[in-house]
Amino acid sequence: MRPGLTLRAVPDPQALAMLAADLIAAQVRAKPELTMLVATGSTPMPTYAELGNRVQAGTLDLSRVTVVGLDEYLGLEPDDPRSLWDWTLRSVIGPLRIRRSVRFGASGDPGRACAEYDAQIAALGGIDLAILGLGPNGHLGFNEPPSAADAPTRVADLTPESLVSNRAYWGQDVPRRALTAGMTVILAARCALLLVSGEHKRGILHRVLEGPPTPEVPASLLGGPGVSVLADRAALGPEDAQPVSARLDSGPDGAS
Ligand code: PGA
Repeated sequence: MRPGLTLRAVPDPQALAMLAADLIAAQVRAKPELTMLVATGSTPMPTYAELGNRVQAGTLDLSRVTVVGLDEYLGLEPDDPRSLWDWTLRSVIGPLRIRRSVRFGASGDPGRACAEYDAQIAALGGIDLAILGLGPNGHLGFNEPPSAADAPTRVADLTPESLVSNRAYWGQDVPRRALTAGMTVILAARCALLLVSGEHKRGILHRVLEGPPTPEVPASLLGGPGVSVLADRAALGPEDAQPVSARLDSGPDGAS
């Protein structure tokens, strides 16, 4: 495996959600005013549901956390149900009782929306924790291949793979362009959890884990002490799916 990457192998999506929620909760206990970048997509949904259960049960308080949306389709009408921000509202902000958030502005000027987004993140002192999914083509947010480490927050053209995988969320086509947090924003996060689940991610996950880092697989540019890849047995293949206890080699905050 690539040096500088921590892999936490879990048996299944439910175990992945429990471990991710444990790691996020530990980070919030250490810093209640955490700034958290959150992906949509199917993989992190059980994690958000588990966090919601804990908030509901009163064992976790996220009320001082600021949530930052990762990306948004370009050109949707304000009430379009395919909005990724609306998905974030439904799956994260509402159930987790989040009070502060940063999103891409809906003004007609995408360049200005990107500049304002970056400025708001900078004013918060950067991203403390990024919750990320792995695109079937290795993308992070809509940093489609090729995206280098210095790719800024910008308007991106979606690749055919992303158009197909995103169509599956809505049962219809999605816009071909989107606003995305830059690789600059994502790679500057103090901690990042890359959540990976399912056999269909096995090939791309192995390119992330084994390297070499390349803009052709933007997620392979993740690395460093704050980055953990949480992957289930289906994504890793049987030989890599050791019990999580055999893999944990760090403290409880996930910043191994
Ligand atoms: P998924 O999407 O979690 O629905 O697999 C990941 C992504 O495309 O970033």
